[in-house]
Amino acid sequence: MDYLQSINQSSIPQHVAIIMDGNGRWAKQQGEDRIFGHHEGVNSVREIVEACGEIGVKFLTLYAFSTENWNRPKEEVDGLMELLVGTISSETKNLNDKGIRLEAIGDLKSLPETCQNQLQNSIKITSKNNKLTLILALSYSSKWEITNSLKEIGNKIAAGTLSPDEITSELIDSHLNTRLWPNPELMIRTSGERRISNFLLWQLAYAEFYFTDVLWPEFRKNDFFEAIVSYQNRERRFGKTSDQLLTPPSK
Ligand code: FPP
Repeated sequence: MDYLQSINQSSIPQHVAIIMDGNGRWAKQQGEDRIFGHHEGVNSVREIVEACGEIGVKFLTLYAFSTENWNRPKEEVDGLMELLVGTISSETKNLNDKGIRLEAIGDLKSLPETCQNQLQNSIKITSKNNKLTLILALSYSSKWEITNSLKEIGNKIAAGTLSPDEITSELIDSHLNTRLWPNPELMIRTSGERRISNFLLWQLAYAEFYFTDVLWPEFRKNDFFEAIVSYQNRERRFGKTSDQLLTPPSK
């Protein structure tokens, strides 16, 4: 089925977040090393970025490397870092031509210097673009991010520039790495795993979750459009009842 036809253009999610999972298992199925799966995964990234542009998604966050991924074998970590530097470098012109802005969240200082430099360079080159913002979560974990934001808030209280009474949900939002962007309305995870794995725990509070068995290297535009159609068929109640959504509140 061609899912693009079924998409309702008037309710496209502004922000989609994806846990790209299954590269290792896909590579194993092909009798190849895990890093081969990550390389193939880049083709899926390209497709999905294009798909977002086609239907008008404005923000796409990809979980490319988690804090926990540092615990993988050195060979795989080194291979992933090389792949990231190489891909960001070779794709920057393409991103720029398509009006895509690159951003990154996470403990970027922990990345190898070549990776940090390439990232900063590409972020700068694409900084004027506004068709789509592609946010790479790199050396990212939500607990790391929330802990850091609490430290910042605590320091402000200790310095006397903030009172504990001023702590609100919005204040916490404004101390997160994602402070500049709306929260994702849809989170997709590939490969059949049904976990959130320390990804955007705060920001996904009201997101719809979509899980598919497709492994990331095989995830194509039509799979993405299927997720969008599924999202559009959900009733987003934000704690209200279905009836309340149908009837406007009386004055
Ligand atoms: C999870 O699959 C995937 C990753 C940890 C890395 C994802 C990175 C890419 C696809 C490269 C992206 C590049 C750019 C520039 C965004 P897994 O290794 O956990 O697979 P498994 O669960 O089957 O072992």
